[in-house]
Amino acid sequence: MAPRQCVILAGIALALALAGGTARAQTADQAWLRYADHTVRVLYPRDVRALGAGAIEASAVKELRRNLGDLATGPFHSFSARAKAAFGGQTILGTVEEVRKAFPDVPVPADLEPDGFWIYSVPCSDHYNGCGEHNLLVITGGDERGALYGAFALLRFAASADLGKLRPENPWRSQPAMPIRWVDEWDNPDGSIERGYAGRSIFFEGGNVRQDLAPVAEYARLLASVGINGLNVNNVNAAPQLLDSDHLKQLARIADTLRPWGVRLALSVDLASPQKIGGLSTYDPLDPAVRSWWTAKANEIYALIPDFGGFTVKADSEGQPGPSSYGRSPAAAANTLAAALEAHGGIVLYRAFVYNHHLDWRDPKADRARAAYDIFAPLDGRFAANVVLQIKEGPIDFQVREPVSPLFGGLELTSQAMEVEVTQEYTGQQRHLVYLAPMWKQVLDFDLRAGGQATPVKEIIAGKSYHRPLGGMIAVAGVGRDAWLASPLALVNLYSFGRLAWNPNLSPEEIAAEWTRQTISSDPDVVATVVKMLMQSWPAYEDYTGPLGMQTLTDITGSHYGPNIESSENNGWGQWHRADHDGVGMDRSVATGTGFAGQYPPEVAKLYEDPATTPDELLLFFHHVPYTYKLHSGKTVIQHIYDSHYEGAAQAAQFVRDWTTLEGRINQPLYEQMRDRLVYQAGHAIVWREAIVQYFLKLSGIPDEKGRAGHYPGRLEAEDARLTGYKIIDVNPWEDASGGKGVSCAEKSCTAEWTWTGSAGRYDIAVQYFDLQGGVADFTLNVNGKPADAWAADATLPSNRPDGDNSTRNTIRNVELKPGDVLRVEGAPDSSDPAAIDYIEVMPTASPM
Ligand code: GCU
Repeated sequence: MAPRQCVILAGIALALALAGGTARAQTADQAWLRYADHTVRVLYPRDVRALGAGAIEASAVKELRRNLGDLATGPFHSFSARAKAAFGGQTILGTVEEVRKAFPDVPVPADLEPDGFWIYSVPCSDHYNGCGEHNLLVITGGDERGALYGAFALLRFAASADLGKLRPENPWRSQPAMPIRWVDEWDNPDGSIERGYAGRSIFFEGGNVRQDLAPVAEYARLLASVGINGLNVNNVNAAPQLLDSDHLKQLARIADTLRPWGVRLALSVDLASPQKIGGLSTYDPLDPAVRSWWTAKANEIYALIPDFGGFTVKADSEGQPGPSSYGRSPAAAANTLAAALEAHGGIVLYRAFVYNHHLDWRDPKADRARAAYDIFAPLDGRFAANVVLQIKEGPIDFQVREPVSPLFGGLELTSQAMEVEVTQEYTGQQRHLVYLAPMWKQVLDFDLRAGGQATPVKEIIAGKSYHRPLGGMIAVAGVGRDAWLASPLALVNLYSFGRLAWNPNLSPEEIAAEWTRQTISSDPDVVATVVKMLMQSWPAYEDYTGPLGMQTLTDITGSHYGPNIESSENNGWGQWHRADHDGVGMDRSVATGTGFAGQYPPEVAKLYEDPATTPDELLLFFHHVPYTYKLHSGKTVIQHIYDSHYEGAAQAAQFVRDWTTLEGRINQPLYEQMRDRLVYQAGHAIVWREAIVQYFLKLSGIPDEKGRAGHYPGRLEAEDARLTGYKIIDVNPWEDASGGKGVSCAEKSCTAEWTWTGSAGRYDIAVQYFDLQGGVADFTLNVNGKPADAWAADATLPSNRPDGDNSTRNTIRNVELKPGDVLRVEGAPDSSDPAAIDYIEVMPTASPM
């Protein structure tokens, strides 16, 4: 939503950009590598050099110099004694072998692992008498990449909880918890991104790799700065043509761009490629011709990309071809690819996201959540050593809350990696502030008690619990050309993913503080406010969408964004919550349900088997209970549904107030951009609240004991207004509009008019309208014929019909009203946007939202 003037300005800005190519380059300092602003700055000897000649060490040197900026080149003699003490001397960077050779006296640890680093400082003992030029800081890597990670750790130093670790007698040593720390991009050759919410691809356009890969190099810097060492560049719903010789040459340019930052390229492959692009009559993984095809393809790839990471496979899932077509198992398919990659050191990430999306919803025993364990646990021990099962964190699909996937506890002889989503597919698509590290952290810390032993997920995927050679974490990133992740605060999710994959013992608060200090400000009050908002954001989103383990309650067959409660039911996709007149939730117990609870090791299975021991937040994932069922909190299920939605929406409104306290203390454009996003979110949280509350009120017939649900003081429905031009419409799903109806305009312009009958005073007036795709409708609110506000419905929201995806609120503050005043909304449609309205709401002024 934008004031009308801004539309004109945007038009001019666009024209300039097209004419003069004035668009700002996409760089890493638009994320957290902000050396120019120096919200925090770490100082080290300014003569920075690498001992080796490799490109990765050169990147590290470049990065360390970049941070010093002018300090690296200014005349040393003009520095104060204090500055000389900090900047004098050398910062040396190298691998264990290089450092040992050049500095035999430096006590380099013999057992530094690949990707690990060790930072050792030999400061001059008497700075103030001018011996600062003898400072020596040594950054040693277990390999080149480790040295790069050491450099980035140093750069992060002043922002992080590691501060104080580095002392001469106490070198700073760190190594990653798990070897695989990858991002998956779901980019398509045409430049679109599956489930991406930040514009178009930085990798592809028009079927080919983009000419300009400068943003890719910047992205690689960001990834390296948090220890991410692999990048799968294309959608798991893979375009087979990317494996043809022409595209492989193009992809080699991406690999060349990533390599100086220690990031290996990987590719998603379509298992039917031997048939689709290879000219074979089959893709049976056990067919010798198919095996040879993959071997030849791998050889071709490695000739172009010697450090190629490997293949990711989505097979027999959501329409993708797979080994089941030939009666073969996933192990047969994975091992065929693994054999082709093995000689080159490549790996196969075989996704356990395999399920039947044509389940029979009438069958009370059918359960999609069971699929991964049912299919893959029996195959334990049958995968080649360079195969890793890539398992989504929960058994369904990145819902706002799910239990941990039981498959993590079901494989002792198979390497595992956990897949999470940075791109906020089911968690507000970056338009809502949702910090995901607390959610991932709960999964990482969850102790499956496999074999009756402590087996937290973080140790299983690190390969520690079962002594596996491989393992790790993979994030579906979804970065695009719109400021990486579109929302400035969404970047904390990419950052925290890398930090947790490096060290899953870090706390989400620590990571959030570290990120905020680097990105926004090191002012402790600012840090405290941002961290508080981040930490409250996932619980708030859960509260106003799908609490108690019901899953997100969004439109699961379409946008995955706004509310659409019944979209999960009566279809084969299996995201069922089974809400009916009497109760809600899916019985997954062994005794009476689908048996899913029994897939966990016994101690955990026992916990989830019984509603009495199932934590409230997952109750409805495991059990179907009456609305009157009492939670551990003492509330009934239905009252919790009402309360959580009111509380969650109130929290979203609070975010706006919290953010407002930062005005003048942080970068102004950032302040304004986030404020607008948070205002939008607060409005959309009300859309969510109203949809879920009115739906469950109607379905259960049980009133809200606090009297809120179904009572909307000050609300004036569009369908009850005096309408000129506007026609009443049914909104689908009905719960996405107040009373299920709105009004839509098929003329040049239309009006809806109400007469105010309340008391005289100052009010805030919210106009709830639908901002459809494909046009920018204009709206005006008039009071007694005088405009109180005018705005354009210019947001980019998922749906092209009026519904909860695009229902948007504009609140006009502090309007004076007296009985008999006429409130009129004028809507002027544009193209496919019919300027539809749901209602207006007149609220005592300064009410939260
Ligand atoms: C989700 C997502 C799909 C994606 C799939 C996957 O279902 O909506 O777009 O392809 O996950 O992980 O394969």
